[in-house]
Amino acid sequence: MTLQEKIADLRTSALEKLPKIADEKTLNDFRVSVLGKKGKLTDILKGMKDLSNEERPKLGALANEFRDEITSLLESKKSEIEALIIAKKLENETLDVTLPGKKVTKGNRHILTQTTEEIEDIFLGMGYQIVDGYEVETDYYNFERMNLPKDHPARDMQDTFYITSDILLRTHTSPVQARTMDAHDFTKGPLKMISPGRVYRRDTDDATHSHQFHQIEGLVIDENIAMSDLKGTLDTLVKKMFGAERKIRLRPSYFPFTEPSVEADISCFKCGGKGCNVCKMTGWIEVLGAGMVHPNVLEMAGIDSKKYSGFAFGLGQERIAMLRYGINDIRGFYLGDARMSEQFK
Ligand code: PHE
Repeated sequence: MTLQEKIADLRTSALEKLPKIADEKTLNDFRVSVLGKKGKLTDILKGMKDLSNEERPKLGALANEFRDEITSLLESKKSEIEALIIAKKLENETLDVTLPGKKVTKGNRHILTQTTEEIEDIFLGMGYQIVDGYEVETDYYNFERMNLPKDHPARDMQDTFYITSDILLRTHTSPVQARTMDAHDFTKGPLKMISPGRVYRRDTDDATHSHQFHQIEGLVIDENIAMSDLKGTLDTLVKKMFGAERKIRLRPSYFPFTEPSVEADISCFKCGGKGCNVCKMTGWIEVLGAGMVHPNVLEMAGIDSKKYSGFAFGLGQERIAMLRYGINDIRGFYLGDARMSEQFK
């Protein structure tokens, strides 16, 4: 058999086998066996050294033609196989777009967080800074610096959880007053801050009491701060929160750290002051405690009480939210029942 005939034979058998190949591995093995370095074509071409100078290039051309033909057939076969693989995959992974979708439930912030942030926004708008305090406080800041020395009878108003005799869970956010007074540089301007956070009191939980609840403390200290500044500030707060028609009323009260002390009431947002079940027929609803910062509290912070004066207030977010939304059991805030939060999306 001449070399030409051998190539022709190889071509015939290759053209016969190629169409039957259906996977990539067989195709690759086929390529190696025909065109590879140790393949059949190489084998045939080893005989070229015995050819005449005229015949050698002719055979070379024939071999190239054969190689090109098979190479191009191999390529189209390869794409064919790849397309088949993809088609199979698609068939196995068909997506039924008519199936009903899964509902993604979207959460929302707790109503106490929303209330806190709303109040923060109001005070940020009036140039206050927001300060963080410690929930685990010292007796010194929680009581003594708030003008409640050891054995002061008014400590009974806020029975608390002691950790040691000097460390306790704060009973109110007021210790943040003393801490911010200590840190403030009055040469840089007045002190205006609010401080929201959790507070703790040894109390028996019921519909209106919780041993753990939330407060926002407010404090302003500057020269010439008067009671009218307190009233104006609280007036702005309640009008923004409860409506522009709301009025504020201050009643005398007692806190050891303010003098004079007041309890602030707002005119009832349900009946407008005529008397209803929300205001217990009085026309007024108590919302917070406040007063002018006691000179002792200023002096303990090293602030000259002859030169500086200030006001402070403390309000409870639970109480505000209960009033606003008609929530009748404080325990609802803490149970983690999603139905509670979902009402306030
Ligand atoms: N700390 C007081 C309380 O928890 C509230 C209050 C704060 C009163 C600031 C006056 C001034 O009851």
